[in-house]
Amino acid sequence: MPLPAGPQIPPLLQLIQWIAQPLAFLESNAQRYGDVFTARFGALEPIVFLSHPQAIQEIFNRPEQFDSGIANDILKPLLGNHSLMLMDGERHQKQRRLVTPPFHGERMRTYGQIIYDITQQVSDRWILGEPFSVRSAMQEIAMSVIMQAVFGLREGSRCQQLKQLLAEMLDVTSSPLSSSLLFFPWLQRDLGDWSPWSRFLRRQEQIDELIYAEIQERRQEVNTARSDILSLMMAARDESGQPLTDAELRSELITLLVAGHETTASALTWALYWVHALPNVHEKLLQELNSLEDKTDFNAIFKLPYLTAVYQETLRIYPIALITFLRVLKSPMQLMGQSFEAGTVLGPCIYLTHQRPDLYPEPKQFRPERFLERQFAPHEYLPFGGGSRRCIGMAFAQYEMKLVLAAVLSRFDLAMVKNQKVQPVRRGLTLAPSAGKWLVPTGLRQADKVPARV
Ligand code: HEM
Repeated sequence: MPLPAGPQIPPLLQLIQWIAQPLAFLESNAQRYGDVFTARFGALEPIVFLSHPQAIQEIFNRPEQFDSGIANDILKPLLGNHSLMLMDGERHQKQRRLVTPPFHGERMRTYGQIIYDITQQVSDRWILGEPFSVRSAMQEIAMSVIMQAVFGLREGSRCQQLKQLLAEMLDVTSSPLSSSLLFFPWLQRDLGDWSPWSRFLRRQEQIDELIYAEIQERRQEVNTARSDILSLMMAARDESGQPLTDAELRSELITLLVAGHETTASALTWALYWVHALPNVHEKLLQELNSLEDKTDFNAIFKLPYLTAVYQETLRIYPIALITFLRVLKSPMQLMGQSFEAGTVLGPCIYLTHQRPDLYPEPKQFRPERFLERQFAPHEYLPFGGGSRRCIGMAFAQYEMKLVLAAVLSRFDLAMVKNQKVQPVRRGLTLAPSAGKWLVPTGLRQADKVPARV
């Protein structure tokens, strides 16, 4: 069965365009070929991009038809052999049941104070009148939140060392050059101390040593009052009463970091961009935040309707992940009247679905109100993917984003720096605002001890 039509340019050029100009690639092909088209990226299997809500619904509703872990295989050197992201079928579902409970709504409340305190600490260093890199600040917040809320590490030399090593490790996924280590297995050779792969392996070993030492220490601890995600995962048992092994815990910790750090930092950076690029959005949001009596009532912040809509619209207009994980068909299937063979690789496209004018009129406009006017189904609004693979960090990311935004906006007046262009650019597997110091603190909203420039 032939695959649906798609771009005719050579596969290598398609790959280059997908890496360098992903939005132009998606939009031009959707315009030419519609809701379904086949892209060919270098020597990889062709990928059928889909952006019709009905096709997406069918995919999310029939998880037994697809594998995804197998398509994430290139991340194995980073994540290890026991990562949820690399598993499929029954094993994946079992592991998900073990790893997901710490991320459920109620649990999130425990992390409110941590998120708030870290935001205050990082923004303590902003200086009035001095533009700063929003991305670096948001990365620092996201990393510290993960270290405390997920790993349960706050200070001390193990925490510092891990932070440093993990940041270096994540750099591998963020630049096209360094990520070629993962894309081209023939580069994965240990050619002595200074070869990139050998340095990669040494770093992984150091990270593993630190994580295993932490796990050992925790096993000996009698203090069970800890609420971090590592402790909760250590206490979890499967149906037959088995806990996660040390190697599984290690893999899942790194998975949460890789999946949760860059994504949340990019999402927060976008949110700050939109709020400050559009004065009417800023004003409405401030009005809503001002209506709160207690600016640290995290529960009340979380429920604010306009803040929620701003968060939703931020992830609609430029979703951090352009497509969900790939779905590889296990047996033949009909989708929207087309037949697909077993082995076909499908890419439900979050970006193109979010840009459909029939769902989101004037899709290029940032308009949070659309989320107050109507509700969207899980196959119409899917920044966190869906079905059996939906992001397990969704509630966590949502909570963190709202609390950080509220804390920053309640503390500072910020303004866009003139003539600084902000554009969507690829960062590893995510879509992020371009780097640069495009935001400047212009005043304080609360009596505060932030250093001011005269
Ligand atoms: C704004 C922030 C985030 C976005 C936009 C995002 C988005 C996504 C998407 C699109 C997927 C693939 C879902 C699919 O294929 O259907 C995913 C999976 C995943 N995410 Fe997130 N994510 C975010 C934050 C987080 C955080 C904070 C964590 C954990 C700390 C996390 C952990 C995971 C894990 C473990 C998976 C794999 C699930 C599986 O294979 O079953 N994510 N995420």
